[in-house]
Amino acid sequence: MKKRFFTGLVLVCMSILPTMAQWGRPVDYSAGPGLKDAYKDYFTIGVAVNKTNISDPAQTAIIKKQFNSVTAENAWKPGEIHPKEGVWNFGLADSIANFCRENGIKMRGHCLCWHSQFADWMFTDKKGKPVKKEVFYQRLREHIHTVVNRYKDVVYAWDVVNEAMADDGRPFEFVNGKMVPASPYRQSRHFKLCGDEFIAKAFEFAREADPTGVLIYNDYSCVDNGKRERIYNMVKKMKDAGVPIDGIGMQGHYNIYFPDEEQLEKAINRFKEIVNIIHITELDLRTNTESGGQLMFARGEAKPQAPYIGTLQEDQYARLFKVFRKHADVIKNVTFWNLSDKDSWLGVNNHPLPFDENFKAKRSLQIIREFDAAADKRVPKDDWVPNPMNQPGQEYPQVNSEGFARFRVVAPDAKSVIVSLGLGGRGGTVLRKDKNGVWTGTTEGPMDPGFHYYHLTIDGGVFNDPGTHNYFGSCRWESGIEIPAPDQDFYAWRKDIPHGNIQQVNFWSESTGKMQTANVYLPSGYGKLVKGKNGKLTQERYPVLYLQHGWGENETSWPVQGKAGIIMDNLIADGKIKPFIVVMAYGLTNDFKFGTIGKFTAEEFEKLLIDELMPVIDKQFLTKPDKWNRALAGLSMGGMETKLITLRRPEVFGYWGLLSGGQYAPDEIKDPKVVKYIFEGCGDKENPDGINKSVADLKAAGYNAEGLISEGTAHEFLTWRRCLYQMAQSLFK
Ligand code: G3I
Repeated sequence: MKKRFFTGLVLVCMSILPTMAQWGRPVDYSAGPGLKDAYKDYFTIGVAVNKTNISDPAQTAIIKKQFNSVTAENAWKPGEIHPKEGVWNFGLADSIANFCRENGIKMRGHCLCWHSQFADWMFTDKKGKPVKKEVFYQRLREHIHTVVNRYKDVVYAWDVVNEAMADDGRPFEFVNGKMVPASPYRQSRHFKLCGDEFIAKAFEFAREADPTGVLIYNDYSCVDNGKRERIYNMVKKMKDAGVPIDGIGMQGHYNIYFPDEEQLEKAINRFKEIVNIIHITELDLRTNTESGGQLMFARGEAKPQAPYIGTLQEDQYARLFKVFRKHADVIKNVTFWNLSDKDSWLGVNNHPLPFDENFKAKRSLQIIREFDAAADKRVPKDDWVPNPMNQPGQEYPQVNSEGFARFRVVAPDAKSVIVSLGLGGRGGTVLRKDKNGVWTGTTEGPMDPGFHYYHLTIDGGVFNDPGTHNYFGSCRWESGIEIPAPDQDFYAWRKDIPHGNIQQVNFWSESTGKMQTANVYLPSGYGKLVKGKNGKLTQERYPVLYLQHGWGENETSWPVQGKAGIIMDNLIADGKIKPFIVVMAYGLTNDFKFGTIGKFTAEEFEKLLIDELMPVIDKQFLTKPDKWNRALAGLSMGGMETKLITLRRPEVFGYWGLLSGGQYAPDEIKDPKVVKYIFEGCGDKENPDGINKSVADLKAAGYNAEGLISEGTAHEFLTWRRCLYQMAQSLFK
């Protein structure tokens, strides 16, 4: 019994804290297909590797599962593979090629001509004197032919020339003391010796050596306006001159804040005008505001990464891959620059990749893998209305008829704004700032119908959305949003019916040593005189439902976000129930420390409820103070409390309700006569099978049990509103 009880408990908690990695049990975000399989209809997925990556079995396993394209991070570069004239260093270069040949993985050849890690001996003769460009070209040709012929069997694309264009930032330069427009070209030794002709030559030599390989011009910061145009102009000029440039490589050394989709698409659409092949050749997302392939960069501090930074990175990866999928007509490959944070050229403290320093997959890998192709093209219906839970006069947040939510926050100097509400499994909805410092954003998809708590994280600080009222959840007053529901009439306030009222009761609790509060719903007509059994006029008395909230909530949760009073009024007005009192007290849930579930007994709340609150209620209100006119029900942790207390004190309550709060088993109760009615319910995104089986077992054992599976909801208030609506119709019958 004890083991089953805690299993039920854990099941409940698991639905509360999906993000809590299932109670400390690490989630394997690499479970499921590899990225290469998830993107087989779009483009190949690659990775840049070093020596260790292709020799350590754990790392080669990741490569074989996730990737169908490999780039040698350094081993094929001219300075590494051909350090001196006539001296070739094929060791690691061959190992990487052979690893790919043995595992049927194709490669991107990186790179044949570059200003860094180059075979600088090509520029000088034996005496160190600069050689003529013709000598340089001979040496470059021999180098390219040697490397290409050695590896073209396993290579499908070559970065022929890398980073030949100047970076943004200095439109003018001094030449011979005169201010002249800055050259569009990087002032490399190649350029100074040959001008931009070396680019044409390198591509001609590569085409000679590999007639079918895809020849790529590769560079970083291609999304920077100036650099984008310089690359466009250079490649167009070369192609117009017949230089065999097949495609452009956008390296993709971005960060969690930059670029946005618009900036990225601008570059892709511009390059689409001149090439029909684009590769994202060196993708990584550092967790600061720097970007580009330059070697001067901040290495970050060895400190734990704030959770919101992880959310920003996941969101940025999701946005970038959505753009890549949209342009899969030209984007033929996306390569991550390094296998893990441990290997990253940026250093582990920049956390730039989907695998961490222990080669463990991060949630960003799952988010990149588990995209919803239909959602890529989905545009929310434009029938937005302000959220019913907004403060007076506040236009935002807004909801539409499909269940999308959109937000607007003014924070001109903020670097990031995240709404904690978003698609399941995602860290929330990351907003984007416009030039007026206004952050806006829409949930990636429709939210579950009903009420949702949320808050804003602005540069790591947690704040409420100034647009909405506040609701007590997660041990704080949070913002709240109401998503339209198909059956929302049962909790809609109706002007044409009598309404009860909710009174706040403060009472002294000796056991907790402080005043406690409960909200008490009294049905319309409460206190009216009725003819008693003895025919005398007497005030009508009522059964009482004690209705408990969940972890992080309090006595305001059921009356406000639960709309308990409105649901009761509508049920009574529609004649679906006889009136009864509902008591909604604070359940002492919020000092509970996660991870100590095994020790949770609810004894403190049992004492407060039965020995301190119930006497106050029966004294202050017209109750029928006996077991068969008393019910106890609770949602989530309130359900756990209900189960613990009703099994320990079966003499107190005649009706029991668990709302996403576990299940009863016949042998836990032992005697159907101790309880007149048991209700169990949850959302169909929780544990519906558990509920259905439990109700069936109880019925089979002779209990009057009823269940409800709420359609399209999870561990959230619409589930519990529907449960209250259903359960109330069977109480006190
Ligand atoms: O090979 C020498 C080794 O003999 C020596 O013991 C060691 C000690 O410093 O250095 C080794 O060379 C290092 C080389 O990587 C090989 O590991 C260089 O110092 C180091 O600067 C070089 O860094 C590489 C960098 O390119 C060079 O510019 C990074 O690993 C590599 O990720 C990076 O990749 C470039 C792309 O090729 C082009 N786009 C930008 C990207 C990032 O800069």
